[in-house]
Amino acid sequence: MTPTLLRGRLLSFKRAPQSLDDTQSYLYESDGGLLIDNGLITAIGPYADVKANAPADVVEIDHRPHLIMPGFIDMHLHFPQMQVIASYAANLLEWLNTYTFPEECRFVESAHANRIATHFYDELIRHGTTTAVGYCSVHKTSADAYFAEAMKRNMRMVGGKVMMDRNAPQGLLDTPQMGYDETRSVIADWHGKGRNHVAITPRFAITSTPAQMEATQALAGEFPDLHIQTHLSENHDEIKFTCELYPEAIDYTDIYARYGLLGDRTLFGHAIHLSEREADAMSEAGSIAVHCPTSNLFLGSGLFPLKALARRDKPVRIGVATDIGGGSSYSMLRTMDEAYKIQQLLGERLNPLDSYYYMTLGNALSLSLADRIGTLDVGTDADIVILDAAATPAMALKMEVVKTLPEELFLLQTMGDDRAIVETYVAGVAAKVAL
Ligand code: GUN
Ligand code: ZN
Repeated sequence: MTPTLLRGRLLSFKRAPQSLDDTQSYLYESDGGLLIDNGLITAIGPYADVKANAPADVVEIDHRPHLIMPGFIDMHLHFPQMQVIASYAANLLEWLNTYTFPEECRFVESAHANRIATHFYDELIRHGTTTAVGYCSVHKTSADAYFAEAMKRNMRMVGGKVMMDRNAPQGLLDTPQMGYDETRSVIADWHGKGRNHVAITPRFAITSTPAQMEATQALAGEFPDLHIQTHLSENHDEIKFTCELYPEAIDYTDIYARYGLLGDRTLFGHAIHLSEREADAMSEAGSIAVHCPTSNLFLGSGLFPLKALARRDKPVRIGVATDIGGGSSYSMLRTMDEAYKIQQLLGERLNPLDSYYYMTLGNALSLSLADRIGTLDVGTDADIVILDAAATPAMALKMEVVKTLPEELFLLQTMGDDRAIVETYVAGVAAKVAL
């Protein structure tokens, strides 16, 4: 592959920002050069320096005046819910039973799963997302479609076949043994193939019997390096029903802890209504609470106390995600706009540096994948997004009065969507233009 030199304004985080003035938390290069070779970032710096040391045959792409950032990471979404988005329901459980479970039944058909997979990756790329952590349906066919398409596009994706053996339609149920066996075969078929990572995926405690939770525990023991993903404490009725199903547990989090699922590779979707005890337990285990703001607002689930969880004496690790199709946008920009508003309603401030940190390095750290994604560091994968803060007439007008980088980032987050994504590079290859 010919080496490529991207020119533009580079922005990449080094650590979590402590305030809006924390310029040490990120690298910003106003006329930057980013050299890409063989899918990896091989040099970064002022354009003139990188150009001077670049190979003679380098192909240059001038993205000025746009921002060049690491591709966005979406920590929680459901691949079989593309046609569930915008379903009119009063709350989580009604939404699951009325729309979501029936729709997921269709993924037993490979043809359907393959068709939706094409659209799924098109949308991720259109929105600047280069890595996502997805739930497939209960059917192995859906996981095959998910990972095969990721491999075709050379994307670094995390995902898993959902395990669920009760409280759902027959067409959506496995058994403890089936869930175990099929998860093992998804791991054998896809983990480490291309850039794929398989996650152990019990849907949530409501749809898994204790026997299935034991099977999950066995898988987690056999494959300690795999991510685990599930849902936790999203909705008050859900919490009540869950605790009735596991009366021996002291709370919802304790259910997962009892089956050995509370660890530093476990991603808990939502985790909105945690008690202090649960937050302590999450913190001690290093588990991740994945905030899904558009979903939490859409389903009326509640206001996630992001800032309060992050500043505890025992802080809870946090990720951010769209939660398609409870979530209502594929865009991580739209997602962080809603996250900002939720903190506003809680009397907290989520500054724009926080937002872009979470979408990139923060999520990469939560996935233990910061050595590969989430920054523009040399040696990491060339998964990159190009952002235009003047993408629409209204944004361009506002840009006339924007003076600082944080102001520009805030404008992009507040008004931006897929129109602000000029290009998305996957392992060094421009993927959006091809759509
Ligand atoms: N809890 C269990 N399954 C789901 C799901 O598909 N979406 C959401 N938002 N919550 C869940
Ligand atoms: Zn979810």
